[in-house]
Amino acid sequence: MSPGPRPETQTPMLCLRDVDAFYGRAQVLFGLTLDVGTGEALALLGRNGAGKSTTLKSIMGLGPQVRGAITFRGRDIVGLPSDEIARLGIGYVPEDRRIFRDLTVIENLEVGRRSPPDDASGPPWTPQRLFDLFPNLATLRNRRGDEISGGEQQMLALARTLMGNPRLLLLDEPSEGLAPVIVEGMARAVAEIKAGGVSILLSEQNLAFARAIAERAAVIEHGRLRYAGTMAELMADAAIRHACLAV
Ligand SMILES: Nc1ncnc2c1ncn2[C@@H]1O[C@H](COP(=O)(O)OP(=O)(O)OP(=O)(O)O)[C@@H](O)[C@H]1O
Ligand SMILES: [Mg+2]
Repeated sequence: MSPGPRPETQTPMLCLRDVDAFYGRAQVLFGLTLDVGTGEALALLGRNGAGKSTTLKSIMGLGPQVRGAITFRGRDIVGLPSDEIARLGIGYVPEDRRIFRDLTVIENLEVGRRSPPDDASGPPWTPQRLFDLFPNLATLRNRRGDEISGGEQQMLALARTLMGNPRLLLLDEPSEGLAPVIVEGMARAVAEIKAGGVSILLSEQNLAFARAIAERAAVIEHGRLRYAGTMAELMADAAIRHACLAV
């Protein structure tokens, strides 16, 4: 299935080719193929249990056994330890957030600090830049992780990952469980991060949120790619949306 139009000169940031993933003997992903281009955001959509989180964990080397090819900037990353994958420039925000509850907001950010790559395109992330991006966090900088709301924890988890200066962000349902006004702020922040040149693979069930960020979408159903194309084409394809999404 074609992943949609893109300038041919660009090497994709991330490529999955015929990826199978297993938990023990249970196969969860079946021949998944997708690309994320440089500076692009791709939405990975699908119902509960479709395999969105498994896809992100497979990329990060966190759990599933993987068969097939996963390359990041042309380099095969299957089988590498997850901390090495992170060091290559992939930032991962898991669905369960995993901030340090007994550290303050600013301490959480410092834990995530990592030097930018030598050939980084933009300025490195600093707590101040992140407070500009997430104004709520600025006023909470000395609060402990367990003293802030779920939405604030989600912002902190993303901000902490950005302190690692990733080239590619893997976001696992960042809008899940958040109040609508917080979702709006999150969408604005993610769009701004993307505008700064960071590539994004966004797992989502919230189509409105995904549309605000991604120009292309991949829809998976029971671990298989069912649709790949532009977000506009997906919006015009009611059959796929009704078959594979909760809309
Ligand atoms: N650690 C695990 N061991 C065994 N099976 C698992 C494990 N994690 C997930 N699965 C199974 O793999 C399938 C895909 O799960 P996954 O979490 O990737 O889906 P998802 O698309 O992220 O769903 P959700 O929207 O609910 O987060 C499901 O059938 C799930 O039960
Ligand atoms: Mg999930």
